[in-house]
Amino acid sequence: KKVVLAYSGGLDTSVILRWLQNTYKCEVVTFTADLGQGEELEPARAKAELFGIKQIFIEDLRETFVKDFVFPMFRANAVYEGQYLLGTSIARPLIAQRQIEIAEMVGADAVAHGATGKGNDQVRFELGYHALNPNIRVIAPWREWDLTSRTKLLEYAEHNQIPITKDKRGEAPFSVDANLLHSSSEGKILEDPALEPEEVVYQRTISPMDAPDKATEITIDFSHGDAVGINGEALSPANLLTRLNEYGKANGIGRLDLVENRFVGMKSRGVYETPGGTILLQAHRAIESITLDREAAHLKDSIMPRYAELIYNGFWFSPERRMLQALIDTSQASVAGTVRLKLYKGNVIVIGRESPHSLYSTRMVTFEDDAGAYNQQDAAGFIKLNSLRLRLGAAIGRRGGSL
Ligand code: ARG
Ligand code: SIN
Repeated sequence: KKVVLAYSGGLDTSVILRWLQNTYKCEVVTFTADLGQGEELEPARAKAELFGIKQIFIEDLRETFVKDFVFPMFRANAVYEGQYLLGTSIARPLIAQRQIEIAEMVGADAVAHGATGKGNDQVRFELGYHALNPNIRVIAPWREWDLTSRTKLLEYAEHNQIPITKDKRGEAPFSVDANLLHSSSEGKILEDPALEPEEVVYQRTISPMDAPDKATEITIDFSHGDAVGINGEALSPANLLTRLNEYGKANGIGRLDLVENRFVGMKSRGVYETPGGTILLQAHRAIESITLDREAAHLKDSIMPRYAELIYNGFWFSPERRMLQALIDTSQASVAGTVRLKLYKGNVIVIGRESPHSLYSTRMVTFEDDAGAYNQQDAAGFIKLNSLRLRLGAAIGRRGGSL
C-alpha cells in the first residue's frame, strides 16, 4: 500500500517512481540523501511534488556517513581485491538503514531501489533491508519491468510526462555513483577494459600530469584510529574528508582503473576516484606503524581481506562483520598521533610520524652504541632454535626446505 523509494531525482528513479504508481497503484514516499555526491537535492523535491508525492524526505547524512560507516571501515584499512577502497559499497548500508527507518515512521510496508539485477548494489540494499526489518517487502523495478532498453525507458518517460533533460536524451556516456568518499564510473564507453578511459570520465581529480611540480605538505592528526584534524586544525569527520578531497584533487591523487569480480559472478570494469580516502589510508597505516604491536597489526591485516569482502558483498549488517569490527576497534585504542605527508603528482608520500603511544625505540634499534639496551648474543639462541627443524630436515637430504 505504501512504498519508500530511494530517489535521486534523476531520470531512472523518476521512471521508477511513476512505474511504481502505475503498476502497484500505491502511495510512494521518496527518500533522497545527501552523502556528499555534490548534487543539488532541492530539484528532487520539486520533481517529487510534480508526481504528487506527499511525503518527501531529503536529508543531509554526510556526517553520519563518514563517522559511522567510512571511518570504521578505514580503521581496518579495508581494500577489495588489493585496490578498490569500497566507496559505493560502504554507502549502501546507510541508505538501506535510513529507508527502513522512514518506512517504519510513515507506516510503509515496502521499499524500492533503482539498482539493476546484474550488480552488487541490489544485494547490498536488500541484505540491509532484510537484516533491519524481516517483514519488509522489497520492490526492485529493474528486475520486474520490461523497459529493457534505453529507448523503451525514454518512451515510457515521454508517455508519462517525465521531464527528460537534453543530455539524457543524448544518453549519458557512462553510469556514475558518487558520495563524499568516491565517485565511480562504469558501463557504456568504459565497457571495453582494453581501452583507456577518456579524461572526461574523471570528475573529482585533475590529472597527475597536470598537478603542481611542487609537493604539498600536510599533517593529519589521529585519535583512536580516526583522523581528527588537518594541519593542527580539528575537523568533523565530513569536513575532514571534504578537506582531504580538495588536497587529493589538486594533486591528482586517488585514480583507479580496475576490473573487479562482482558478487553475482561477473567481472566488471570500474573507474574510481577516491582522493581523500587514498590519502587517509596511507596516513592511517603510517600512524599504525608506530603505535600497533606487531602481532596485533599482523592479525588485523590478515582479517582485512575478509572484512573488505563482507562490505563489498553487502554484509555490513551481519554478525561476522560486527565481530570483526569489534576486533578492529579494540586494536585502535592507542592509534593516535600525527602523520606528516607530501602530496605530489598522484603520490602520497609519508615523511614523518609521531605519537605519545609510540612503540618505536631509537635506543633499541640504533646502529650506534645502545648502552646495553639490547644484547646481540641473545639473537644467537633465537636463530639456533628457529633453525632447528630446518637443520634436521637438511640433515636427511631435504636441503633448502625441499619436501
Ligand atoms: N563496482 C562498484 C561497487 O560494486 C561501484 C558500483 C557503482 N554503482 C552504481 N550504481 N553505479 O562497489
Ligand atoms: C547496478 O547494477 O545497479 C550498478 C552496478 C552494481 O551494482 O554493481
